[in-house]
Amino acid sequence: MVDDMLRTPGAVRDAERWTAHNYHPLPVVISSAEGVWLTDVDNRRYLDCLAGYSALNFGHRHPQLIAAAHAQLDKLTLTSRAFIHDQFADFCRELAELCGKDLVLPMNTGAEAVETAIKVARKWGYQVKGVPAGQANIVVAEGNFHGRTTTIVSFSTDEDARADFGPYTPGFTVVPYGDLDALAAAIDENTVAVLIEPIQGEQGVVVPPAGYLPGVRRVCDENNVLFLADEIQSGLGRTGETFACDHEGVTPDMYLLGKALGGGIVPVSAVAANADVLGVLKPGQHGSTFGGNPLACAVATEVVRLLGTGEFQRRSAELGERLHAGLRGLVGKGLLAVRGRGLWAGLDIDPAVMTGRQACERLMERGILAKDTHGSTIRLAPPLVITAEEIDHLVAQLAAVLAG
Ligand SMILES: Cc1ncc(COP(=O)(O)O)c(C=O)c1O
Repeated sequence: MVDDMLRTPGAVRDAERWTAHNYHPLPVVISSAEGVWLTDVDNRRYLDCLAGYSALNFGHRHPQLIAAAHAQLDKLTLTSRAFIHDQFADFCRELAELCGKDLVLPMNTGAEAVETAIKVARKWGYQVKGVPAGQANIVVAEGNFHGRTTTIVSFSTDEDARADFGPYTPGFTVVPYGDLDALAAAIDENTVAVLIEPIQGEQGVVVPPAGYLPGVRRVCDENNVLFLADEIQSGLGRTGETFACDHEGVTPDMYLLGKALGGGIVPVSAVAANADVLGVLKPGQHGSTFGGNPLACAVATEVVRLLGTGEFQRRSAELGERLHAGLRGLVGKGLLAVRGRGLWAGLDIDPAVMTGRQACERLMERGILAKDTHGSTIRLAPPLVITAEEIDHLVAQLAAVLAG
């Protein structure tokens, strides 16, 4: 098609004209999708290798999830938590069981799950641990990404995320990620929680050294501190286990979940913990109009059931091996390093060859959509329904881009 007949350029211009520029999207305009494949307004097809930052672990429009959404749309969509609806208990019970915890508290976005965890940990600190009023602190890691609220960006170490959004919320201590001694040294008698990602996604899929997560568990136990695992991106099958913590046999005190919990259809987040932790909240102390709504619960219950089959975790583990083997073959051929677990990879592009953005633009021209971060890193997180042949196709296209 000749360029002036394409719909993409005008659609890109319109989007830029009418929105704040808080993102720098690739110049592609998607209009439909199925499984791992996206189609744009000009009928070009792309392999989705971002999966909505892991919100689409089950692929676009998974039939079981779409059926649950359709059925629920025809019955009941919203009640608020002022009343109980018939989808609520099943969702909470099934998610609690998946997590091996007593209770669940549903919210909508990942950032809200993080805010919930912070509030619960502080209240637990004052009411259960006996921390003096207003003195609670939470230890977090350098390079963290937990969301965009003013409290959460207060302890970000990314200046783009943080600068000029002060005054900042106090009560957070930042330590290097993966350094157990630094973590132990930062804990004092007023520490109520350690909040970390078991794998740092936005930082470039950074996997901590073996033994770190069990070490965090031990240090938390020794100091009567809650271990809050932000599994919003790493959880729900992405790494080849239900939770990234499972790789090290670690059980945190609280799971923070989001993204894939909504099946790529609705925003659904939640925290899961035992009654001695989540039980500190009483009516009126926390909530959300949309948190735990009927549509969200109907879809998320099916998500939990899909995970209950183990199929997606297995696919991620097996196909992840294939992906990582392929990517390792490109180290020294345009890639400096590859990290990750399961169907989740962070690739460092050799800056002498091209930037991460340039690599993503060239991949786009070859029908592959991925997203760069921090200059020269690309994250790959395809839907877990990707096939072996599609992985080989992805690796071949990346090889071609890096070869120039
Ligand atoms: C680990 C982690 N926590 C929290 C969030 C925030 O989630 P949301 O964008 O839904 O608020 C993200 C989003 O990328 C994330 O990766």
